[in-house]
Amino acid sequence: MSINNEDYFQINSEILTSFHKYRPPLDLYVFREDIGVLEPFYRKGGRLSEAQVAELAEICENGNLFVAHSDKHIYQEYMIRQLDLVLLDPNMTEGEIAELCILGVAARYASFYDQPVPDMMQFLYHDVMVITEYLWSDKHHMVPFMRRLFRKSDPARHAVNTMIVGTWLWMQMNHEYNRKELDRIMLALVLHDAGMCKVPQFYLTKKGRLTQDEWDKMTMHTVASVKLMQKSDLKFDELIRACFEHHERLDGSGYPQHTRAGQISVMGRLTALADSFSAMICDRPYAKAKEPDQVGKELFEDNRYDKTMSSILSTAYVPGGPLGTLIDMDAKYEAFKKSDA
Ligand SMILES: [Fe+2]
Ligand SMILES: [Fe+2]
Repeated sequence: MSINNEDYFQINSEILTSFHKYRPPLDLYVFREDIGVLEPFYRKGGRLSEAQVAELAEICENGNLFVAHSDKHIYQEYMIRQLDLVLLDPNMTEGEIAELCILGVAARYASFYDQPVPDMMQFLYHDVMVITEYLWSDKHHMVPFMRRLFRKSDPARHAVNTMIVGTWLWMQMNHEYNRKELDRIMLALVLHDAGMCKVPQFYLTKKGRLTQDEWDKMTMHTVASVKLMQKSDLKFDELIRACFEHHERLDGSGYPQHTRAGQISVMGRLTALADSFSAMICDRPYAKAKEPDQVGKELFEDNRYDKTMSSILSTAYVPGGPLGTLIDMDAKYEAFKKSDA
């Protein structure tokens, strides 16, 4: 029996047991089979008795526990904070899953960036693993992520954009991979700029040019990222390369080592391209946001980037292609941050 409709949706036992036992975060409704209607069982802010908790568990077990669609935002905000639940709800669409994952990882990244300590890293790591589990089950799940990039720039949004674009690109180039590789690629991409938190934050929003001294400090975020990762006990090669090499360019014009083509690792090149793409589709203090297909074209014409990679990325957002127009994630992220404050 299912009475999922536009007004109510069903909650399963795994989701119910994740709620606070006595104080669930939203209103709950029970389907009365004898009279065929839903009736309120619990109101948010109340407290369930021990007997009600047991009763509720049984109701849920029988598939008769529901939540109002008008409370869906509360339900989704709750899931963003406990991202594993996203994969346990059979009613969730691919787009909704991608959306909640993006918001979840962005929020985790922002917390880590504000407070770069092992606990925060653990939360971020864990949420990235939820996404890799989801992508591992079917790589086509990557498409709804690619349709949901941020167009406003801050460290968290940039990290998530880079993770998505880089992973998509990597999947296009590698048709066979194992779960561990996927885990590592995604973590490396999302963390490539982590050391930026050690740089004075006004550099990121400064309207004019940075002074030489400011620029020198800024370029050191690559090394700061490596150090921060080593301190967090994350030392695998893809991650170190992504952090250290993402500003290197094939013609030696990059930093910090001015490394040239052959010496830059595949991971370094991949991160460089995903990083630049993610930055260019966003408004920055010194440049206006460009459209993704335009950015793809410009990067393909730029000989400082790997041509094989940039040719693939240049096809991603062609008009009429499978990705279509981007869905606005910024408004959703801002709404979530407000609810989180
Ligand atoms: Fe960077
Ligand atoms: Fe970056």
